[in-house]
Amino acid sequence: MAEDAADLHVPVMVEEVINCLQPDSAGVYVDGTLGLGGHSQAILEYTAPSGRVIGFEWDREAAAFATDRLRGFGDRLQVVRSSYADMVAELKTMGIDGVDGVLVDLGVSSLQFDRGERGFSFQTDAPLDMRMNLDAEMTAADIVAKADVGELADIFYHYGEERQARRIARYICEARGQEPVRTTFQLAELVKKAVPRRFHPDRIHVATKVFQALRIAVNRELDNLVRLLDEAPKILRQGASFCVISFHSLEDRIVKQAFRNSERLQVLSNKPVEPGVEEVRLNPRARSARLRKAIKV
Ligand SMILES: C[S@@+](CC[C@H](N)C(=O)[O-])C[C@H]1O[C@@H](n2cnc3c(N)ncnc32)[C@H](O)[C@@H]1O
Repeated sequence: MAEDAADLHVPVMVEEVINCLQPDSAGVYVDGTLGLGGHSQAILEYTAPSGRVIGFEWDREAAAFATDRLRGFGDRLQVVRSSYADMVAELKTMGIDGVDGVLVDLGVSSLQFDRGERGFSFQTDAPLDMRMNLDAEMTAADIVAKADVGELADIFYHYGEERQARRIARYICEARGQEPVRTTFQLAELVKKAVPRRFHPDRIHVATKVFQALRIAVNRELDNLVRLLDEAPKILRQGASFCVISFHSLEDRIVKQAFRNSERLQVLSNKPVEPGVEEVRLNPRARSARLRKAIKV
């Protein structure tokens, strides 16, 4: 994989993440979403010469890329090919029963999204896959093929907040009887046809929310997030920071409530940290990022 994949994914709110974690050279930090390693690199640089990062990443392409890219840090970085939801068990098997900070940067990396072949985007025609973890069994095409109208409508409504959910679900179920829906372009076209022109949104593609919803369903993103929010406080040392960057309101709401309801965590501000104007100008993907922080008590 070429080094340009790292240029492709610019990590968001790096300065804010360092401010949030306040990492030091004696600490062990978990990056729950290693991705291409941007945030881990920043933590490793900041905690030189001896701070450690354990990076979780379930996408084998991303894990391989980050491992190679950050090899200069030697054994200060350990990469775990597993879900962040299993963080506590994985760390325990490594003999680690306390860490000095946990970061997760939710969502997809540019490696997954911008390279059309993984099927996350309606901009490129590709198999309708959307698995971040390529070892997982169920793809977006499987869901579209097997779910009934009610199940599909629930996915589009709950995970995409798509108001035309039922109409789109019905249309897809009728269409798949004639021809299986195997590609991103097929699905985008079906959504376009299902939604009457007057309901097409002005600023985003009409299939945006359906694609987001399917991605969340395929990767069980909200279930994993809920598990993480329950698990991570168990492994944080007293006074350690838990930082979560989310990219849409569904995730942010879950994080906000879990932080507020946890007896193990203290929240210093109810307002999330947002990226600065200059960062958004340079990296439009950062626009919707929201960073929430809690401290282990
Ligand atoms: C937004 S990217 C992270 C980018 C990273 N912070 C960087 O600077 O390059 C999110 C990454 O988290 C990974 N991911 C998502 N859910 C995960 C999970 N449950 N367990 C492990 N990795 C996950 C995705 O595969 C993706 O590579």
